[in-house]
Amino acid sequence: MAYFLFFIIFIFFLFLLLLRKLRYARLQLPPGSLGLPFIGETLQMISAYKSDNPEPFIDQRVNRYGSIFTSHVFGEPTVFSADPETNRFIIMNEGKLFECSYPGSISNLLGKHSLLLMKGSLHKKMHSLTMSFANSSIIKDHLLFDIDRLIRLNLDSWSDRVLLMEEAKKITFELTVKQLMSFDPDEWTESLRKEYMLVIEGFFTLPFPLFSTTYRRAIKARTKVAEALTLVVRQRRKENEIGIEKKNDMLGALLASGEQFSNEEIVDFMLALLVAGYETTSTIMTLAIKFLTETPLALAQLKEEHEQIRARSEPEAALEWTDYKSMTFTQCVVNETLRVANIIGAIFRRTTTDIDIKGYTIPKGMKVIASFRAVHLNPEHFKDARTFNPWRWQNNNSEAVASPGSIFTPFGGGPRLCPGYELARVVLSVFLHRMVTRISWVPAEEDKLVFFPTTRTQKRYPILVKRREESTRSCIGFGYTTDTGRKKES
Ligand code: HEM
Repeated sequence: MAYFLFFIIFIFFLFLLLLRKLRYARLQLPPGSLGLPFIGETLQMISAYKSDNPEPFIDQRVNRYGSIFTSHVFGEPTVFSADPETNRFIIMNEGKLFECSYPGSISNLLGKHSLLLMKGSLHKKMHSLTMSFANSSIIKDHLLFDIDRLIRLNLDSWSDRVLLMEEAKKITFELTVKQLMSFDPDEWTESLRKEYMLVIEGFFTLPFPLFSTTYRRAIKARTKVAEALTLVVRQRRKENEIGIEKKNDMLGALLASGEQFSNEEIVDFMLALLVAGYETTSTIMTLAIKFLTETPLALAQLKEEHEQIRARSEPEAALEWTDYKSMTFTQCVVNETLRVANIIGAIFRRTTTDIDIKGYTIPKGMKVIASFRAVHLNPEHFKDARTFNPWRWQNNNSEAVASPGSIFTPFGGGPRLCPGYELARVVLSVFLHRMVTRISWVPAEEDKLVFFPTTRTQKRYPILVKRREESTRSCIGFGYTTDTGRKKES
């Protein structure tokens, strides 16, 4: 009987395979393999990205089928692009031929009014509002000061052994809360962060409360975070009504924008900004330190650059915009970390119409993954692509990062270009500055990179920390100081 049952299931499976093959043969899809019914090639993909070398998953298929191929992952057929030109076509046609398509768990936890899920003209308006709040002049005028102050505060509180990833997360959360609603770190922000971390954990689970405790916990935590943020929004509205001086932050900008946003809309919007900047920036901070630790020559050159900057001011003087602008080698390190780390390795889209591309047809409604990682790590585009080599960016204009023609797209592009791209670069640069001039460190344990469900190190990168002597920090350079702690050229 058991054999018979097995036989029936086997035949049913073959039948499904045949049916699927016939259905897709009629379409002119890019070549590829759809794998097993239902699960497709999901398990191969997950196991590759759970290792420290996920490249073979894409490399093997590119070698077999070309740089645009079809697979079947996470329950549906999906077209992958590892081709820079096609990737650019996809990102530039967002909202026209393609639209953003995030997994159900992320959409539910973010809330329908978050920027990542908005579409059409509302998205355009909110995207430019967000951009206007994280652009160079805002960073220069007031965010830089807070970034520097909060990073110093955190670094000075470290014990001898820290989990760098955790510390970086704390820093980025505090920075984002400050930027969004002007709160300095305290018990309230810390308890908000704890709830918020539960929300993030839910992003990578199946969105079925019945089956997943992580997802249930995340939904509960989201409700608590939303309640806490709603109280803040209400309070701010009240303050505005009674004429208390307006605060110069993102919440202030939303309330003053002339749009009649509901509390729910503002809360969803803020929650998504917290999500978008938190994991990404803290991971890039951790990985920059990891890559530099493994590349002593680059670390030495970076230290030299920052010691020269410190030599121009008192040890405790705040960093200024001109200091940031003089960090030329640092920008090479930032670019190279972004290129090798690929924090957002790919973007997820869905076609809104049938699309003819490179001799293939991608039908309406099909999932498309544009892999930035595959381009950034392809030796045809970057010599010795899999080696961390910040010098490759020397004499190169780092502004190219966000230019429409660039094949280097760590922040995406087009209508959904990351609004935090400049901010993330500044945060990382200031963090590197304070790290190399304030402390020295060694890895406490071997730790390796993994890429699923997100890019991170397995053990959160534990390091042993030693504070650099005050005298070492202040001994470089001569001159007398101004009121701001800045040294005048002598
Ligand atoms: C190293 C750090 C970061 C990386 C690598 C990164 C990368 C990206 C990428 C690739 C996208 C495009 C996603 C898509 O097209 O589907 C994106 C979107 C976004 N990023 Fe970032 N990001 C970083 C930091 C930040 C920061 C600090 C903020 C906070 C201001 C932020 C806010 C956003 C938002 C709100 C979106 C959605 C934009 C939209 O859908 O219109 N990101 N980011």
